[in-house]
Amino acid sequence: MQKTVKRKLITGAAALSVLLASGVSFAHGEEEEKRFAESQYRHDIMMITKYALGNILQHLRGTADQEGDVAKFAEMMAMSAAMAKTAFEKDTRGMEGKTDAKGDIWENWADFSDRLDKYEADTAALAEAAKSGDMGQIAPAFKKATSNCKSCHDEYRK
Ligand code: HEC
Repeated sequence: MQKTVKRKLITGAAALSVLLASGVSFAHGEEEEKRFAESQYRHDIMMITKYALGNILQHLRGTADQEGDVAKFAEMMAMSAAMAKTAFEKDTRGMEGKTDAKGDIWENWADFSDRLDKYEADTAALAEAAKSGDMGQIAPAFKKATSNCKSCHDEYRK
């Protein structure tokens, strides 16, 4: 009986240390302001793109070669891009909590929305090119899709 309890404790502690080592944090530091729900949601949609993009880069650089993964990650980027507009649609100016989104997004919604449409189209084209498995087609489509990131961030991200 006692042994089981002890083993459970050890398992729990091990799981916790793995979580901590992975850098996954559930409690934010006190100095870091907490995101409000809408901010967290759109932030996480962007993070999906970031992780997928990072792993495609590994394939382009030759540090990863898992068969078929580029197409899957490209699909994730396209899905994430397609979900961005509804995530940003709600005007959250004045809401309490952290966000990196500038108020200009809702000031200039038509422009922001056009940018998201282009981003969605370019990542969809990347996902299509990635199905071919041909790096000669994938690389330029990847470059085009990722050209949307910085230009929008420069304008609309704090
Ligand atoms: C049309 C505008 C737009 C496009 C295109 C766009 N983003 Fe963003 N992104 C934003 C905004 C605005 C935020 C801030 C959201 C918030 O904090 O509420 C953001 C936040 C992020 C974040 C959150 C963490 C951080 O560094 O701020 C990451 C990561 C990110 N974007 C990656 C990308 C990548 C990679 C691409 C391209 C493949 C991309 N984004 C395309 C507007 C855009």
